[in-house]
Amino acid sequence: MAMDLNDIHDTLVSLAHQAGEIINNALPETSGTGSKKNTADLVTEYDRAVEKMISTSLMGKYPDYKFHGEESYDPNTPLTDAPTFIVDPIDGTVNFIHSFPHACVALGFAVNRVPTVGVVYNPSTKALYSAIRGQGAFLNQETRLPLKGENVEPLSGLSSALISIEWGSDRGGPNWDTKVRTFAQLGQSKENGGAMVRSMRSLGSAALNMCAVAEGTMDLYWEGGCWEWDVCAAWVILTEAGGIVVDGNPGDWNPRLDGRKYLAVRGAPEKGQKEIVEEFWSNIQGR
Ligand code: IPD
Repeated sequence: MAMDLNDIHDTLVSLAHQAGEIINNALPETSGTGSKKNTADLVTEYDRAVEKMISTSLMGKYPDYKFHGEESYDPNTPLTDAPTFIVDPIDGTVNFIHSFPHACVALGFAVNRVPTVGVVYNPSTKALYSAIRGQGAFLNQETRLPLKGENVEPLSGLSSALISIEWGSDRGGPNWDTKVRTFAQLGQSKENGGAMVRSMRSLGSAALNMCAVAEGTMDLYWEGGCWEWDVCAAWVILTEAGGIVVDGNPGDWNPRLDGRKYLAVRGAPEKGQKEIVEEFWSNIQGR
């Protein structure tokens, strides 16, 4: 069967709305949840039910493609180059459990590990972000991203940047040390105790963070420790809105989809993106 990206996009939009219905009708209770590795790494019956609904539907319609989802992930079957649906049924599970209206369904499709179609839907706000590689990114299928269109401001450096960061669920080991050190380094300038970045936000959904960067309401998003299903869908949306994704590790301009460390930068006129990435890396190195 020839690959029809528009058909895949429309199918993902429809599934995102169906998933949103399930999520909006759920009555999440902290007591009904399961912990994966600690009390910050949670899964609910709704994560599993939404993923099952989506995988059954996608594998029924597209039996030639693979499915890679957060809740059915098996470390023995890692991501490959095959055309693959990469799905997070509820990105922002902790927010969902607390009824904080900032969680989404993140439905991505990658070919040769390149994010190619992405749909991210927040059922609380009804914001739907979507993109097909090469065809632009849209909010609610009509407003082209970034939201300021041609009037996007240049990136003038970290001191005027609003940055998304996440604590994630790894609360120990090298990942934790890197995160805590990076947040401290980003918070304060080296010289005089002034501000390094304008401010940081930690809102609890990797996919929505990346969509905010695509919109241009955030300038950057940095996280170490999240997974390909957290970022695949929003990655297409961001790059189609003129943004870039580089590896969160200093010096690596070619991030792997499953590299688990990402720095996303919004679209900007003229240069600015490369410079702010270099400024970011130089500030989190060797301090
Ligand atoms: C998590 C969220 C969170 C990020 C974690 C992710 P989940 O996804 O995106 O913001 O910090 O790294 O795992 O578990 O809610 O699907």
